[in-house]
Amino acid sequence: MKEIVVSGIRSTGYLHLGNYFGAIQNYVKMQEDFNCYFFVADYHALTTHPDPKELKPNVYRVIAENVASGLDPNKVALYAQSDIPEIPELYLMLNMLAYKGELEKTASFKDKARSQPDNINAGLLTYPSLMAADILIHKAHKVPVGKDQEQHLEMTRNFAGRFNHRYGDLFPEPTAFNFGEQLVKIPSLDGKGKMSKSENENATIYLADEDDKIRKKVMKAKTDGGPTEANTPMPDYIENIFMLMKLVSSEEHYNQFLNNYNNCEIRYGDMKKQLAEDMIKFVSPIREKAVAMQNDIPLLQKILAEGKDKARESASKTLSDARKMIGINY
Ligand code: TRP
Repeated sequence: MKEIVVSGIRSTGYLHLGNYFGAIQNYVKMQEDFNCYFFVADYHALTTHPDPKELKPNVYRVIAENVASGLDPNKVALYAQSDIPEIPELYLMLNMLAYKGELEKTASFKDKARSQPDNINAGLLTYPSLMAADILIHKAHKVPVGKDQEQHLEMTRNFAGRFNHRYGDLFPEPTAFNFGEQLVKIPSLDGKGKMSKSENENATIYLADEDDKIRKKVMKAKTDGGPTEANTPMPDYIENIFMLMKLVSSEEHYNQFLNNYNNCEIRYGDMKKQLAEDMIKFVSPIREKAVAMQNDIPLLQKILAEGKDKARESASKTLSDARKMIGINY
């Protein structure tokens, strides 16, 4: 039997190359070898009170961008969290096993409480138990997440262990998982940190960016006069440009510019032009497919409906066992 993988995708913000290479590409590889449940975490998004007018287009866009990037709804269950009523029911049960103290000291809660002091709601506090419910409802073994989610995953294991200890063995304790090598961090174009949804928009390439926008952003990437001595170590911002080139350009182009660098013959203008064109070749088919899908509401609804059926089949079994074990079977 295939191992079970669960992952949640945030419904806020546009997907960018960092998401593509960091997460989506992992999902696409996993869909072949694992029994995958991927969902849009729209309930989690409610913790920050998003504009109701924006919620639906955001969810549709996330689905479209993931499918356009290669996620196959015929191979995985792709659904909206809020379509699975078993999740909030398990969340309620897990909340009885989650302690105020541990929830309060979760790093993500402390960050949010600091950044939005006027909205420290109970959903924010219990974010980890909702995430645990997302994962445990399918008895997942593996959860493809980045470093920032490891604490939540550890809490998931704790809640699972507490349930098993109190009521009997039901849940495996899931572990973080990344396909292949270590996590790739996709650098931003300004040499400061990585591509990100919320910060440095101009240094981040989004899957929705038009060709011209990609050109502009790439051409603005930070460079300098180039090395004057052979085999000078690269400054961070130059290394970043090479790294991006490695992801989207041909080996030939990459090696050519690397040689130029080492021989002090590099022309960053030419390199960025090449990078921009290769980036466009990479992004534009995804963008076009995603836009077409977002205009095909019946298709999106069909994908969500099928994902919901697959996810509920697994979720209802787990929940019915949990209810019986707790003693709710009148
Ligand atoms: N908390 C995750 C994030 O911010 C999203 C998420 C919600 C998730 N539920 C999940 C990820 C379950 C993995 C499994 O990215």
